[in-house]
Amino acid sequence: MTAPLVTRVSKADAAAIGDAVRCLKAGGLVAFPTETVYGLGADATDGRAIARLYEAKGRPAFNPLIAHVADLAAARALARFDADAEQLAEAFWPGPLTLVLPKAASCAVAELATAGLDSIAVRVPQHPVAQKILAAFAKPIVAPSANRSGHVSPTTAAHVLADLRNRIDLIVDGGSTPVGVESTIVACLGEPTLLRPGGVPRADIERVLKRSLAEPPAGIAAADDAPLAPGMLASHYAPRTSLRLDARRVAAGEALLAFGPKPAEGAEHAATVLNLSQRGDLIEAAANLFSQLRALDAAGAKSIAVMPIPDDGLGEAINDRLARAAAPRRLAE
Ligand code: TXA
Ligand code: MG
Repeated sequence: MTAPLVTRVSKADAAAIGDAVRCLKAGGLVAFPTETVYGLGADATDGRAIARLYEAKGRPAFNPLIAHVADLAAARALARFDADAEQLAEAFWPGPLTLVLPKAASCAVAELATAGLDSIAVRVPQHPVAQKILAAFAKPIVAPSANRSGHVSPTTAAHVLADLRNRIDLIVDGGSTPVGVESTIVACLGEPTLLRPGGVPRADIERVLKRSLAEPPAGIAAADDAPLAPGMLASHYAPRTSLRLDARRVAAGEALLAFGPKPAEGAEHAATVLNLSQRGDLIEAAANLFSQLRALDAAGAKSIAVMPIPDDGLGEAINDRLARAAAPRRLAE
């Protein structure tokens, strides 16, 4: 047996970036900030490192990973871009968009990371710390969100530590992540299809494509184990406390996740109240979502009442994550 692992946490300075790169080269696991959420990185070409990553997360091994690269040129070595994919990469990279594309013949990413699919999810993150690590490592890094499988995604180094302490080698602490929800995932394997709403609103993508995104085939969104069902494990984002969505009033003993200036009826009796955005701003709400869910989950209320949230812009991603968090937990998790 190897010595017990002790997770180091380092402020994101030049020394920490050097440390992260050395650790990745040695097959280690490094959590680092992206503009969306913290990722748990491993060398994408190292099957053993990826196996450790699945183990650290407790993730079902059929759920494939996103390969992160420094720029479009590096992405081209992994995947084939059709005209739509070119346009989307041009418009949104670096940034919170992931493209699912046909795997290139030259793709060096380990088979385990793509769960045996002939497609691959690729993303060029914008966060300066992610950019520096990718540039210095000069190889693709696979990075799922740095949480235990079934928990909400981490938006601070403290969240990562709470989930993965002594299961990973290093956490590079770059403060809280600005976007707060995961990347939007679009498959370009034919008609561009929205697989997961996220940090780039659907409308922005449709404006670039000059047409509507297709929806995944019926059943995919609710599926829990089909390999092409990305992040579609029904209860993937589940806190322990049950969630009650679209709540217009608060029941006794409930915590309240509010949105906007006007609190729900009965808010004064709530066990705890947090507001995603007092001024009703969906960008601010997305940034607060996961940390407030964690805080309310820890408060030990009977359930969490969540006020209605508009479905436009980033609201679609927020409502998607809330619906998953509210879904009954599955045995597989
Ligand atoms: O914002 C993000 O995307 C963060 C940061 C760290 O980059 N990452 C993230 O990774 O959310 P993860 O593993 O938690 O979610 C990635 C999703 C999974 O649901 C997976 O099923 C889907 O991407 N995915 C990966 N490869 C795929 C493929 N070839 N086809 C369909 N879905 C895929
Ligand atoms: Mg995740």
